[in-house]
Amino acid sequence: MPLPSRVQIIDVGPRDGLQNEKLPVPAAIKIELVHRLQAAGLTEIEVTSFVSPKWVPQMADAAAVMAGIQRQAGVRYSVLTPNQIGFEAAVHSKPDEIVVFGAASEAFSRKNINCSIAESIERFAPVVQAALAAGMAVRGAMSCAVGCPYEGDVSPSSVSYLAGLMKQIGVQRVDMADTIGTGTPLKVQKAIEATLEHFDADHVCGHFHDTYGQALANTLAALQMGVWNFQSSVAGLGGCPYAKGATGNVATEDVVYMLHGMGISTGIDLDQLVDAGAFISEFLGRQPNSNVAKAILNKRAG
Ligand code: HMG
Ligand code: MG
Repeated sequence: MPLPSRVQIIDVGPRDGLQNEKLPVPAAIKIELVHRLQAAGLTEIEVTSFVSPKWVPQMADAAAVMAGIQRQAGVRYSVLTPNQIGFEAAVHSKPDEIVVFGAASEAFSRKNINCSIAESIERFAPVVQAALAAGMAVRGAMSCAVGCPYEGDVSPSSVSYLAGLMKQIGVQRVDMADTIGTGTPLKVQKAIEATLEHFDADHVCGHFHDTYGQALANTLAALQMGVWNFQSSVAGLGGCPYAKGATGNVATEDVVYMLHGMGISTGIDLDQLVDAGAFISEFLGRQPNSNVAKAILNKRAG
């Protein structure tokens, strides 16, 4: 299959990236990060989650962050909503897209959202209907589509099962998520194949954590199957509170560098993106978790 000439990147740094930070990141910093990402050319940004503040304290300021961002025309702002309570809170913020998030593994579903896969679908169904009726787009995240921190390898049939349920309740596109970054290219291709039983390649996003350093290889494996939507975190921020030891998403800087080097356009200015990553990394008191960002920053300094 020919590689796509253009790739759409959803930066999930403000949400997936920051949700696991132990010290509170002020809303003003999150807002500034969103502003810097859109200035760098990102046209899809996952801003925050409307989840229980007892479960994920870092996202307790979801409404304030959404209220504070100055929206730019042509940018899609998405938020996570696990249930009706989250959706009702999110509606006032007028997101362009909501994300329901399920898991291909039962154990992870219980740890992450405190219910079984079947129960999660029952909870998502009315949220999806309400969002579509309100004119919002709906995405469905499928966690642990390759490996699970509690169950080990996850079978493609489990991914197909979840993708089928997501399709049935009206989810428009899905994220094939390697939550703990244990996937390797052929395993990822099998999980994508399973997803393609229910969604066409235009409606599948690759979401790869880079824990084992496989995320760029997995991205290329997904590109070869016609997938052209990917999620990544500026500066490689992140980790999921319910996937211990799993590190951040693949760094947006690394994905953009690889794609541009392959002649694939993203609409993103790599230098401005590196600045956005440096901004948040400086606030967090560490180096960006991105080889490309470090190389560019070193080159600038030298
Ligand atoms: P629960 O405790 O089972 O919910 O939590 P409940 O319905 O029994 O309600 C219990 C209490 O929570 C009640 O409050 C509710 O009002 C409140 P109380 O009466 O005790 O004061 N509550 C809420 N408050 C705010 N917002 C809400 C909400 N819902 C209930 N939406 C729930 C269920 C899903 C809420 C909980 O388990 C939760 O918030 N989990 C957090 C999950 C999460 O954010 N995980 C990280 C994101 S997923 C991820 O990172 C993976 C991804 O990146 C893809 C990948 O890499 O795999 C997407
Ligand atoms: Mg994630």
